[in-house]
Amino acid sequence: MSHVLDQNLNYDRPIKLADGVFWVGYNDPHSGLQCNPYLIFDGDEAVLIDGGSRPDFSTVMRKVLQVGVEPRQISHLIYQHYDPDLCGSIPNFENIIGRPDLKLISKQENIAFIRHYSVRSEILCMEAIGRRLVMKSGRALTFHATPYAHLAGSFTSYDTASGILFSSDLFGSVGDPKSWRLFLEIERACAGCAAPKPTPDEICGRAGCACPWTGFAFFHRQIMPCNKAVRYAMDVVRSVGPKMIAPQHGSVLHRPDDIAEAIARIAAMDDVGIDGVPAFAGA
Ligand SMILES: [Fe+2]
Ligand SMILES: [Fe+2]
Repeated sequence: MSHVLDQNLNYDRPIKLADGVFWVGYNDPHSGLQCNPYLIFDGDEAVLIDGGSRPDFSTVMRKVLQVGVEPRQISHLIYQHYDPDLCGSIPNFENIIGRPDLKLISKQENIAFIRHYSVRSEILCMEAIGRRLVMKSGRALTFHATPYAHLAGSFTSYDTASGILFSSDLFGSVGDPKSWRLFLEIERACAGCAAPKPTPDEICGRAGCACPWTGFAFFHRQIMPCNKAVRYAMDVVRSVGPKMIAPQHGSVLHRPDDIAEAIARIAAMDDVGIDGVPAFAGA
């Protein structure tokens, strides 16, 4: 999907990932934690994935409008877990969409928590709807559970038309916000690199750039609970076989070699969450 780089990457506008798929996120030069909501627009129907935090609402909504979507065309809001960085703006979206038949989609384990965002709309459990959403156009999204990566009810969404997997916190990364790019391409010097990794903000002496693998490792080590959860999730992603991975933080992966190496490296981590904490040695 190298054509994604052939467009004007003006981050103040929505960015097209594939036909009908748009990044409607926010490039915050002061934040090391980039948030990426995504919009699917097919026919006259739109679906928003991991819509964003309350402070980001006006920016995300402006970009939705710039795509050409009227708020009332949004039929579903998908929330792949219940954290505030993706759910905080639910009441804002409900107000502006103004549809009594608006539906939220999440997983059973998340729903009790999502209600605490003052949600008025019906929340559908992704399992109760057969782990798929078929839009009026026939375009289908399939849902894939990734338990405890990082919450019990975490899941990912796969757009069968484009081959894009919306991975939520999986494949998130951190780094210097000033050098952030939406589409990450791993430098040749970094592919297969086994050199000791610098910190996320440090420039690697070998490649002359920040280490992309460090950004992934740092994020997963801190956000995910344990090695087993991450390995299970990587098996799920392999079974889906996406052409593109669009995470809620960090950058989009769109080259097959980069996707394969990212999966392998994340699955090989042995210090994720509690597994990276030394044994308790007494208070
Ligand atoms: Fe999260
Ligand atoms: Fe997140």
